[in-house]
Amino acid sequence: MRIDIITIFPEMFEGPFGHSIIKRAQNKGLVEIHLHQLRDFTSDKHRKVDDYAFSGGAGMVMMIEPVAKAIEHLTAQRKYDEIIYTSPDGELLDQPMANRLSTYGNLLILCGHYKGIDERIREHFITKEISIGNYVLSGGELAAAVIVDSVVRLIPGVLGNEESALSDSFQDNLVSPPVYTRPREFRGWKVPDILLSGNEKLIKEWKHEQAVKRTRERRPGMDV
Ligand code: ADE
Repeated sequence: MRIDIITIFPEMFEGPFGHSIIKRAQNKGLVEIHLHQLRDFTSDKHRKVDDYAFSGGAGMVMMIEPVAKAIEHLTAQRKYDEIIYTSPDGELLDQPMANRLSTYGNLLILCGHYKGIDERIREHFITKEISIGNYVLSGGELAAAVIVDSVVRLIPGVLGNEESALSDSFQDNLVSPPVYTRPREFRGWKVPDILLSGNEKLIKEWKHEQAVKRTRERRPGMDV
């Protein structure tokens, strides 16, 4: 998979993409992530990419020209399965959406900023608008990093067997059951006996019951 990201803060991705599973996926050649500085596409001598909104109102708006040029620079080179815009009013990211995105070959993500982008960009270029939750971030970079992380870990070969994405929370519409590791007892706090019993069938049933219980308690809206 190839992911292109248009942003005014490419440095913000160094942390999330420079470590752990996402870094390993890049090193293994399973994903290529390319960052593009939006300011490289402006003709303004101060490299300005935002302007006042017509009719006033608080906040600056991302200008159409640099964004259109950046997107067209990339779409001239390859076809994208989705051109994504990160925005609090987008469709909410969930596991089925991440699963679907992970099957694609080329994704382009435009990170939103200021009070939004000129609406004509959304009308003419964007194919999918994604929100990572019902709260407002200072910019779309953190949202883009979350989207990329949730998608890349699902690409076949990225996770080892032990980390398998199939056992992730939400893959079967359930959150994960509790997990424990050594020691068996710490300050008198014991690991549930059943997990030490060696009875695979009972352990599987227990994990499922726990996952259902947790899902009911913590995600009352989810149908289990
Ligand atoms: N930009 C600002 N807030 C956001 C959110 N919740 N999701 C996606 N992009 C955003």
